[in-house]
Amino acid sequence: MTDIQTAPKTGSNADVAAGVAQYLTPVVHELIALAVNGKQAHWHVRGANFIAVHELLDDVVAHAQDWSDIAAERVVALGLPIDGRLATVAAKTGAENPKLGFLPYDEAIAGVVSQIDLATEKVNAAIDGLAELDPTSQDVVIEIRRGLDKDRWFLFSHIAVK
Ligand SMILES: [Fe+2]
Repeated sequence: MTDIQTAPKTGSNADVAAGVAQYLTPVVHELIALAVNGKQAHWHVRGANFIAVHELLDDVVAHAQDWSDIAAERVVALGLPIDGRLATVAAKTGAENPKLGFLPYDEAIAGVVSQIDLATEKVNAAIDGLAELDPTSQDVVIEIRRGLDKDRWFLFSHIAVK
């Protein structure tokens, strides 16, 4: 009979779980940072297309929160904890602190786009690293990559000239 206390929760073994955590943890950190700083931009954006950019930034934040949850829960589903504490995220993110106070819309968008790019770097590393290790986890980051690309397009199109 299967021992419910020790049986793996999935078909993955401990090495796979550790590898998945290694690749998904940086993704979780950058997505949490994107959600926090995206909200800062949402509150302080000024200028042309205010309503459109203000509302779009809330969509970006909501997506980043959803994706950080999906990536974190994939690690937990394989039996390992995740460190999504505020101080850890602040220490691990590559994001610069956004300028304090109100921002012209082009600067606000450029800041959030650069954070999307940082998250995308971590996602790309995870897509590469998980291909052999655990395609089920790779599927998680492929979905996130598709969404980040779309959000980047929606934001960037406000400041692109062609
Ligand atoms: Fe709001």
